[in-house]
Amino acid sequence: HLRLWVGDEDLAKSRPAPWPLAQSGTVDLFQPVVWGTDQRGRWVGITLMFIAGVIGAIPRMGKTFLLRLLLLIAALDIRAELHTYDLKGTGDLDAVGDRVAHRHRAGEEAADIEYAIADLRELREEMRRRAKVIRSLPRDMCPESKVTTELASKRSLGLHPIVIGVDECQVWFEHDKHGAEFEEICVDLVKRGPATGMVLLLATQRPDKDSIPKAISANASARWCLKVMGQVENDMVLGTGAYKRGVRATLFAWAEKGVCYFLGEGADARIVRAALVDAVLADSIALRARVLRERAGRLAGHAAGEQPEAEPAVSYDLLADLLAAVPDSTPKVWNEVAVAALAELRPGVYGEWAPEQLTLALKPYGVRTGQVWGSTEGGKSANRRGIKRADLLKAVAERDSGAAAA
Ligand SMILES: Nc1ncnc2c1ncn2[C@@H]1O[C@H](COP(=O)(O)OP(=O)(O)O)[C@@H](O)[C@H]1O
Ligand SMILES: [Mg+2]
Repeated sequence: HLRLWVGDEDLAKSRPAPWPLAQSGTVDLFQPVVWGTDQRGRWVGITLMFIAGVIGAIPRMGKTFLLRLLLLIAALDIRAELHTYDLKGTGDLDAVGDRVAHRHRAGEEAADIEYAIADLRELREEMRRRAKVIRSLPRDMCPESKVTTELASKRSLGLHPIVIGVDECQVWFEHDKHGAEFEEICVDLVKRGPATGMVLLLATQRPDKDSIPKAISANASARWCLKVMGQVENDMVLGTGAYKRGVRATLFAWAEKGVCYFLGEGADARIVRAALVDAVLADSIALRARVLRERAGRLAGHAAGEQPEAEPAVSYDLLADLLAAVPDSTPKVWNEVAVAALAELRPGVYGEWAPEQLTLALKPYGVRTGQVWGSTEGGKSANRRGIKRADLLKAVAERDSGAAAA
């Protein structure tokens, strides 16, 4: 059937409806939450769980406002752990970052970048941990092999939503030292994060292949494109062929702040104007979210004044530990025996190691594992994967002479 709707008012000129969550209310991130209105004035929702999102536009169109709005939505689900990065460094995300975020940073100096890359490395570990937890859950609790709102509420599982918002993300991907690693981790988060309850939201003013790697733009499941200047940027955010199909964010006027083509929720691209939440309002909403979190004992990390733990100054020395753990009298030792001995020596470090992990961990030192003879506890001889003590000694000698030369 045909539906005809006649609007007599410009979307951008009509009076914006106040955001329903501005003064009260909380959120379940597994349900759609309204964030803007369509051309007929109807609220449009976004379910932040299970997505990765990209926001693109030329400067001054409302990217940061929109990202902040999405982060405020996350803040209002008190279970959600926020990681907020304002790489322009103007403090636009401080309201939400300082009030509720677990990790937050504004700026793009070396210290800010180191903080961020350390956080991302931890997030990737967290993603791996979550994948394992999800796999180990009984089918009836986790039928689709992904987090549910019930699972997210069980604190013992640690499967609460994690929402990572990055404004002007091109700074990360173009970074000369860590750019490749930022890209690698973010691609991983975009592909495997959603099922584990981790949501990455990236905003950029230069949507091209350097500022948002192809693997990210191609896999993001939610896209917001405010005004852009050309077909290339348009399709970078909205997907290949969007411009040809007539989905053109190039047609938006300069005055149309906060107006975007929105693609997500399994629907066709729609024109939506984001609710206007300015800095003052953002601050009061974030404060409300903070109070809710404080009451629930859910405030942690940056917002609670905690610094991330620094890397331990003296890290363990695997070669030395192996030589200590394995008796001098054994020229060859199986991985499984070595790992058990290591676990006894430093349970906190090696307690969880599987035999194959030793093979991987030794590689950087140039020590290879191979089939070696040994005997089982029962005294039977067998050929299994293991290491030679002589190889360890050689690696230590090489390392020490290298250190002396340097
Ligand atoms: N949803 C909105 N409705 C109305 N005006 C908006 C909206 N979002 C942003 N603006 C206006 O546009 C300006 C630029 O927004 P900002 O998010 O800083 O742009 P960008 O990050 O794209 O450079 C804001 O200062 C605000 O005045
Ligand atoms: Mg901005």
